[in-house]
Amino acid sequence: MSELKNDRFLRALKRQPVDQTPIWMMRQAGRYLPEYRATRAKAGDFMSLCKNTALACEVTMQPLERYAFDAAILFSDILTIPDAMGLGLHFVTGEGPRFKYPVQDAAAIERLEVINTERDLTYVTDAVRAIRSELNGRVPLIGFSGSPWTLATYMVEGGPSKDFARIKSMVYGDSAPLHLLLDKLAESVIDYLNAQIEAGAQAVQIFDTWGGALSEKAYIEFSLNYMQKIVSNLHKSWDGHEIPVILFTKGGGQWLEAIANAGANAVGLDWTTSLKQARERVGHQVALQGNMDPAVLNGSDEAIRTEVRRLLDNYGNHSGHVFNLGHGITPLIDPAKVGVFVNEVQEYSRKIRQA
Ligand code: CP3
Repeated sequence: MSELKNDRFLRALKRQPVDQTPIWMMRQAGRYLPEYRATRAKAGDFMSLCKNTALACEVTMQPLERYAFDAAILFSDILTIPDAMGLGLHFVTGEGPRFKYPVQDAAAIERLEVINTERDLTYVTDAVRAIRSELNGRVPLIGFSGSPWTLATYMVEGGPSKDFARIKSMVYGDSAPLHLLLDKLAESVIDYLNAQIEAGAQAVQIFDTWGGALSEKAYIEFSLNYMQKIVSNLHKSWDGHEIPVILFTKGGGQWLEAIANAGANAVGLDWTTSLKQARERVGHQVALQGNMDPAVLNGSDEAIRTEVRRLLDNYGNHSGHVFNLGHGITPLIDPAKVGVFVNEVQEYSRKIRQA
């Protein structure tokens, strides 16, 4: 495979010195870009876009043509795994994902089979291979998966949820079936991420979008333990290169020490946690990724620059920071604002590092 021309992102994840703070953006390929909406229209719908190798590759590259991001992220979704398990995923416009066959009792959980990625999700590894070839070493490629807990919330609730009533009744009631579900998901995620690594993913991120909905004790038992199991079963290196792992729990700031102990290289932060305090608490152990509120991108150019400088000053001139938003970019943001954001991170962080 081709030599990597820009390794800032991988270096920062390993807490090695960099010339400027690397940046990428969660949901960087997405609806805020008119060219994304055009390609999705060509594909027909979102899942057809994920399953079309050439078009998934095309939308992965789109944000890199506009902005000097330091990493690409595979274009796909976390719900590919439950889809491959036969739950019948579809997207309802304006309402998000829905499962035709949610799993709501022990019998349904027992029937689920652990996925085999190369057999059941070939379109994902095909996309990874195509993107690596298209990138040709320009920047590293990030593979990803949902956490078992976050996947389970969608599978049990049947779609997005505000209160997680059904799955929480399993957490606080008879939890044996839920543990069986999380176990099958953890096995599936291990296979899924290792297959992405074998196909060419150079770092992987686990998205635990809904871990923050749990109490501390339940978070450790039902989310973190399974992510820890995944991390310890992933390929540590591939093709002679270390494969860093990033854990992102939205709302996980109060459990930083526990998350940093799970064995990953980096912890993703949402905007509710101070970067400075996070670095003091766990920065000797892991790199940190984040954490500007995506809503700042609705502000004036000056407001965006001010917030970027505040966050970079707050982290300080230390290694181990990957700039990102605290959650995915939202569809109505003006693409020009993203340009202002990326330029400021790069220019200002370069100044800090030269000071
Ligand atoms: O970051 C990237 O650019 C890579 C692609 C990516 C997508 N989804 C594409 C996508 C990634 C990493 C995800 C992860 C994902 N998917 C998560 C975890 C991260 C997070 O945002 O918390 C979750 C919870 C999902 C599940 C999911 N997929 C939801 C809830 C939705 C609907 C969102 C909405 O607002 O309608 C999706 C669809 C989806 N996944 C879109 C994209 C670009 C939009 C679909 C479209 O184009 O119509």
